[in-house]
Amino acid sequence: MSLRPVRIYGDPVLRTRAADVREFDGSLAQLVQDLFETMSAYRGVGLAANQVGVLQRVLVVDVPAEEEGGAPLRLALVNPTVTRRAGTQHAEEGCLSIPGVWEDVTRAARIHVEGLDPHGRLVALDATGYAARALQHEIDHLDGVLFVDRLSALKRQFLRRQLDALARGELPHDYQPPVREEQR
Ligand code: CO
Repeated sequence: MSLRPVRIYGDPVLRTRAADVREFDGSLAQLVQDLFETMSAYRGVGLAANQVGVLQRVLVVDVPAEEEGGAPLRLALVNPTVTRRAGTQHAEEGCLSIPGVWEDVTRAARIHVEGLDPHGRLVALDATGYAARALQHEIDHLDGVLFVDRLSALKRQFLRRQLDALARGELPHDYQPPVREEQR
């Protein structure tokens, strides 16, 4: 297993739609292990393959149980699709690829997701609350969409300078990734 550095806002790989996985082989298993390890090292609750520079439709989530009763969810999904959505929720999100930015995002409250596990077996699940939000956020990544794209034009305008700075490689002064670029 190995940690992989998380790509930061401005990296074109975050804006590229990832391709469907067709081979359920050892390199996919390795990618899934690395995603779990990297997510945990960066203390994230989700990570999409784009974020480590791999343009394949693979994501991992590790969402804790919620006080309001939302169930915990830890799994890897390959080629996932949201097939049903209902209701809306509004809550704060951040992203390992956009350090220092936290904003409220509106998403579906309840979703049904279909996809495959890392062995190529069909997976279907219902998710609500935090787990539903994390899955929608990560599936967006696979489409090259970031949570800041889902903010109002006004909010995005307020964030413009911060995002432009990230894109120039200027990271928040307190940003301490567990893996540095030169370690690649
Ligand atoms: Co993200």
